Amino acid sequence: MAVLNVIAIPSPLLKQVSLPVGKISDETRSLIDDMRQTMLAHKSCVGLAAVQVGVLARIIIVDVSLSEKPHRSSGVLYMINPVITYSSGKTSSREGCLSVPDFIGNVIRKKKIEVEYIDASGQKRSLKTEGFEAVCIQHEIDHLDGKVFLDRVTSLKTDVFRRQ
Ligand code: NI
Repeated sequence: MAVLNVIAIPSPLLKQVSLPVGKISDETRSLIDDMRQTMLAHKSCVGLAAVQVGVLARIIIVDVSLSEKPHRSSGVLYMINPVITYSSGKTSSREGCLSVPDFIGNVIRKKKIEVEYIDASGQKRSLKTEGFEAVCIQHEIDHLDGKVFLDRVTSLKTDVFRRQ
């Protein structure tokens, strides 16, 4: 396992749409292990998408269990080809991203979601969640579609702040 380099804006890779994963190969498993190590190497990192380590594959990892924010947590979630199949409500929260190291921003997202995905062992799964965990999943799926949270703020002038 290895800690991978995380790319940051303005890397053009972060604007690309990631491709669906077909078969889960040894290479895929190794990438997922390395992504997990990379998350653990960054304090307070709650999610990572494969594109952030330079691989345009639809893989995300979310783990809000160690966050200090109030939240419900499903533990560490390895999601391959995740698709949001249902969402409702709205919630606003402050987001940060390893690929946007200098800024944080206020983003409005869906409060509750249902997401279908393939887990690391190749099983098809579905998860209903809400609040912070749901926000993190939406943030990471955005990366797979070439978006960062700066693309989601209402105003770059009033909703984005320099990190202290
Ligand atoms: Ni991010």
